[in-house]
Amino acid sequence: AVANIGVVGLAVMGSNLARNLASREGNTVAIYNRSRSKTDELVENHPEAGFVPAFAYEEFAASLAKPRTAIIMVKAGAGTDAVIDALVEVFEPGDIIVDGGNALFTDTIRREKAVRETGINFVGAGISGGEEGALLGPSIMPGGSDESWVTLGPILKSIAAVAEGEPCVTHVGHDGAGHFVKMVHNGIEYADMQLIAEAYDLIRRGTGKTPAEIADVFAEWNTGELESYLIEITAEVLRQVDASTGKPLVDVILDQAGAKGTGAWTVQTALSLGVPVSGIAEATFARSLSSHPEQRAVSGDLPGPEEGLEVEDVDAFIEDVRLALYASKIVAYSQGFDEIRAGAAEYDWNIDLGAVSKIWRAGCIIRAQFLNRIADAYAEAPELPVLLAAPYFVEALGRAQGSWRRIVSTASAAGIPAPAFSSSLSYYDGLRAERLPAALVQGQRDFFGAHTYKRIDKPGTFHTLWSGDRTEIEAEDTH
Ligand code: 6PG
Repeated sequence: AVANIGVVGLAVMGSNLARNLASREGNTVAIYNRSRSKTDELVENHPEAGFVPAFAYEEFAASLAKPRTAIIMVKAGAGTDAVIDALVEVFEPGDIIVDGGNALFTDTIRREKAVRETGINFVGAGISGGEEGALLGPSIMPGGSDESWVTLGPILKSIAAVAEGEPCVTHVGHDGAGHFVKMVHNGIEYADMQLIAEAYDLIRRGTGKTPAEIADVFAEWNTGELESYLIEITAEVLRQVDASTGKPLVDVILDQAGAKGTGAWTVQTALSLGVPVSGIAEATFARSLSSHPEQRAVSGDLPGPEEGLEVEDVDAFIEDVRLALYASKIVAYSQGFDEIRAGAAEYDWNIDLGAVSKIWRAGCIIRAQFLNRIADAYAEAPELPVLLAAPYFVEALGRAQGSWRRIVSTASAAGIPAPAFSSSLSYYDGLRAERLPAALVQGQRDFFGAHTYKRIDKPGTFHTLWSGDRTEIEAEDTH
């Protein structure tokens, strides 16, 4: 037994993570893949890594020092269960199995429970940063037991991205907490991407700038408060010219966005928890809408406004778009953190929201300057009920809201869809409202279903005898 860590599954993410592990002082990495060729290839192409290859699970287990620690990097789903079963057969109590895929957190809860019965530790770890992150330093969100963290912590710290001297990994919470947080990370990623896409669309339609010119706008934004990986790569994508047609690549890519499902999980989970992640939901639905060519084909004749978008002051318009993007982004993150808080309460996880924001500062897809502000907000007020009420964000939203409103109304008047911008603004105004028409909804519910209501002026639960003499009676609370 010579290796302190093993990797199972040597597709791109797995082999990059294995190389990353091998490149750090103190690590010796055992590797295993279902088909032998991938293992041979990795050993051959990377002699510097000193990999310890194994071609059967028994051999893999024998090559690992105790407590054996292995990271599974296979496509989430049934394949993960098969690998876990195989490892459980050859591992012993106290050993650690880590699932580094994008598993659904409820699967992770189920797996952790089942594996725990054998005395083996099971850790669901969200890993973000794509192929490059896996190789050079991802952001890692592990769940699992405290016992497993003792061994796993230093290994994961050795490979994680570093933000301002701190490794981008923290023990998020027990069982499925890590995969839950990774799921919400992806939901925020969807929102961030959609908001950027809406900003691009408005600038393009409003100013007639070419994609390459808009790339310059994003590059400029990337030097300020919007600085982030997604803004940076947006400029790169917009600048790309298609070799075969000479057109901007963005103009020849089919406008139907794919999705592997983590955004939908975030929204489904938020619906069950009762958390309004409207920006993330709109971003997810925007991908769905784009991917229905048959519906779009028959909808082209639906009437729109007479006037298109006409922008007089291009610079002022672009600044409005920037601020609308910033404000909507604050909403998306606030909603995402709200979901994590609610998930932690529901599943009994002790999640430090400030620590989560810190491990997202580098390595992951949503990495951004901005996450420092979130960390500050939670450092000042760990129990903050909603992130956007933190003083820094109140100031930023106050500065942005005029622009935000102008952009949402301009887009709407010109018939340009901006679902994430506008739903975020509605959410913001909903939170701000002193009175909401929810009172009327309660009245309606009481009318047709005797669902009862509460009053603003006295405690208790009430029902109006709508089909009788319409007097009010005290009632049992039915919600
Ligand atoms: C990451 C990414 C990664 C992956 C997503 C893409 O954090 O590294 O989020 O997990 O790229 O699964 O998701 P969609 O295919 O659904 O856009």
